[in-house]
Amino acid sequence: MAELKNDLILRAAKGQSVERTPVWLMRQAGRILPEYRAVRNSLSGFKELVETPELAAEVTIQPVDILGVDAAIIFSDILVVPEAMGLTYEMVEKKGPWFPKTISSENDFANIRVADPNELDYVYKAIEHTLAGLNGRVPLIGFAGAPFTILCYMVEGSGSKTFSKARKMIFQRPDLAHKLMDMITETTISYLHAQVDAGVHMLQVFDSWAGILDKDLYKAFSMPYLERIADSLSSRVPLTLFAKGAHFSIDDLASTSCRTIGVDWNTPPAYARAQAGPDKTLQGNLDPTVLYADGKEIAKHTIKMLESFGSEKHIANLGHGVYPDTNPDSVKIFIDTIKSYEHDKNQ
Ligand code: CP3
Repeated sequence: MAELKNDLILRAAKGQSVERTPVWLMRQAGRILPEYRAVRNSLSGFKELVETPELAAEVTIQPVDILGVDAAIIFSDILVVPEAMGLTYEMVEKKGPWFPKTISSENDFANIRVADPNELDYVYKAIEHTLAGLNGRVPLIGFAGAPFTILCYMVEGSGSKTFSKARKMIFQRPDLAHKLMDMITETTISYLHAQVDAGVHMLQVFDSWAGILDKDLYKAFSMPYLERIADSLSSRVPLTLFAKGAHFSIDDLASTSCRTIGVDWNTPPAYARAQAGPDKTLQGNLDPTVLYADGKEIAKHTIKMLESFGSEKHIANLGHGVYPDTNPDSVKIFIDTIKSYEHDKNQ
């Protein structure tokens, strides 16, 4: 594999010193770029792009070329895991994911299985194509959804403001919720190992719906599975846990073997650091809507963020994925502000 020319993000994740703070954006490979939309519009839909390794690699590399980020994230979706387990999804234009079949009772388990990681071969091929195209310019991040967030989609069948069906299962049939997450966890662990075998340099686990639980429920229904994933993979590559909305569980996340904890924009950096302790790297956390402001304002908020996290053990990012109608020039201002910022290391 090509030697990395820029390994800032890996060093920051490992807690080593860096010349400057590294930066990437969640959802950087996507609709903000006209170049992405051009590829996407030439196809039958989102899934064809995900399942065509050459094209998935092309859109993975676009933000590295166009925006100058310090890492690429493989173009795919967290929903390929439930699909490999037996629940196919459709990506409905302007609405989001939809599952024709869901899990609501014991009988529905007849439709699903722990997936053979080879079923996601197109992802590993996309990783190989991406690594060849990157030629060591920046590291490549692999990812998966957290078992709890995947359960939300498998039970609910689509996005939801409340995910009340998933929460209902936790209270009415906690045994089924655990059984389902056990199967998702097993699938996810072998899937992430296969991504590392294919060459990704680091991993991120997205628990996008963590914030619909409280601390005790999160501890009982999400943490055990995150722990299993982190324990199995973090000796191979640095692993990031991003539990959106779960500022109340940062201390629990910090007790796992992950290297980095994602911080959403609602959480003050100083609070995140106090909860996480001194050892972990933190990633985040600019409010994505700051990128709708003018350039001066974007730079001001970005510098404030950099100062709040400090010069080490920080990977700059937004507090959640970049919104699709964000101007790429504004994203550039965010990135360039970070790249040119010099921390006062005497403080
Ligand atoms: O650039 C990247 O971050 C890599 C690619 C990536 C996508 N989805 C591509 C995508 C990643 C890391 C994801 C993760 C993902 N997918 C999450 C976790 C992160 C988060 O945002 O909380 C979740 C919850 C999903 C599920 C999902 N996929 C939803 C709810 C939607 C519809 C909403 C939307 O943003 O359109 C998707 C579709 C999706 N996944 C798109 C992209 C680029 C847009 C589809 C399109 O191009 O038409």
